[in-house]
Amino acid sequence: MILIIDFGSQYNQLIARRVREHHVYCRIEPPEMDIERIRALAPEGIILSGGPASIYEKGSPRVDRGIFNLGIPILGICYGMQYMVDSLGGEVVGAQKREYGFAELHTKGTGGIFDGIEKKTKCWMSHGDTIGKLPPGFKITASTPDTKVAALENRKKNFYGLQFHPEVVHTPEGKRMLKNFLLQICGCKKSWTMKSFVKDSIREIKAEVGDKKIILGLSGGVDSSVAALLLHCAIGDHLTCIFVDNGLLRQDEAKKVRFVFKRDLKVNLRFVNAKREFLDGLKGVVDPERKRKIIGRIFIKVFEREARKIKGAEFLAQGTLYPDLIESRSAFGGPSAVIKSHHNVGGLPKNMKLKLVEPLKHLFKDEVRLLGKELGLPEDLIWRQPFPGPGLAVRILGDVTDRRLSILRKADAILIEEIKANNFYRKMWQSFAVLLPLKSVGIMGDQRTYEHIVAIRAVTSDDAMTADWAKLPHSLLGKISNRIINEVRGINRVVYDTSSKPPSTIEWE
Ligand code: XMP
Repeated sequence: MILIIDFGSQYNQLIARRVREHHVYCRIEPPEMDIERIRALAPEGIILSGGPASIYEKGSPRVDRGIFNLGIPILGICYGMQYMVDSLGGEVVGAQKREYGFAELHTKGTGGIFDGIEKKTKCWMSHGDTIGKLPPGFKITASTPDTKVAALENRKKNFYGLQFHPEVVHTPEGKRMLKNFLLQICGCKKSWTMKSFVKDSIREIKAEVGDKKIILGLSGGVDSSVAALLLHCAIGDHLTCIFVDNGLLRQDEAKKVRFVFKRDLKVNLRFVNAKREFLDGLKGVVDPERKRKIIGRIFIKVFEREARKIKGAEFLAQGTLYPDLIESRSAFGGPSAVIKSHHNVGGLPKNMKLKLVEPLKHLFKDEVRLLGKELGLPEDLIWRQPFPGPGLAVRILGDVTDRRLSILRKADAILIEEIKANNFYRKMWQSFAVLLPLKSVGIMGDQRTYEHIVAIRAVTSDDAMTADWAKLPHSLLGKISNRIINEVRGINRVVYDTSSKPPSTIEWE
């Protein structure tokens, strides 16, 4: 495994992705990590990430310098390289000119990190400081017109430094450089596959849980579904999944989850119909924040009530993913951590004193999908678009009633059917219908109508932090609009949302 020390660069998760693309397992850990723990992890190499700080700044992040005595290869990227130089007796100085963007890279010598790479290539720079003096035993291996020390190495010790970012796509040979570091320099084997992950995880879960029982809140989304299947493989019926039907789900959603998990996959599933409880609680509530609070509160109440019925349960499983884990503990987490927290509906039943099991906490989303495939989860569950915990309540503006839910469900089902039929489903981050708290005039046959308006929202995005409205073909929008107005009673107007995030959000609330 490769250890990535997190100095706070926005590209850290990208470094991890790149390493795993070569089927090498890696972990991102904070610089405060104890040297003994690092030794215990027995990494085959260490990557020191970039970061926004300057090495001379007070409080700039530092890792135990003992890493340079472990006898394993180390690659420093940007700030990571400057940290290495500063730690080993070289000198870092403030550059006259900040270098940002593409630069021509001229490499010298052969082998090492640049093995098999043309002498002239491009790289992506983003730095203020630069190297003034090399540490003893190091030599320069690449330069750009503005940066003399764009790369350096001490081949004897297997220490390498890159001033630029090999992990971003703007460094076209970056993948090759990382591959050289991982496979040739560190000697890693390409053994990180989903098959091996399943095997290792099952062993770890068994060791951690023994013959105790686990409860898992199944939402039908990819993360909780894959977590459920993995745990089911490890401990069978000692896992109980609780699925709460809050009445705010999309058409046929609850039925589908029941069929797949209970009937096909034979997972121990408790299906709780709590529709009335939720809808009664939401009666007359129009304020979106109040809706969220009410839904969260009722969810915990229902979940706890069910969980108590499972005698001897000691663990609660969650489908936490790696980005959540890194963001929640990162000292430089930035606004993303805060943005995420308001999406957590309810949270955990705190007073139940259950121990947490998070079997996906070292995986990225696309790896979770691969894992789902490996475990036999049906394709349409694997590729489901994200769906908010408070469900259709955030897509019905105004009062949430049975009738309004039914109208929105039908419109949404038509939209999804057309988006899928025209092969846009997987290209969208999300595509859904929203019911507005307005009516407008229409004409149907010879009759004047006064009915509801539905808005269509379709966005592309990588992480929901920013999103672009999808440029769906007019013909497809026309068909969706036509079908919704013709097939769903109560709607006489369909509009398309052409706002991006920011300044808008994805959900309308
Ligand atoms: P916004 O509307 O803030 O949404 O742009 C960003 C992403 O978060 C999803 N979302 C939620 N997910 N529980 C969730 O699990 C929630 O309460 C929740 N609210 C919004 C939203 O669908 C979008 O993908």
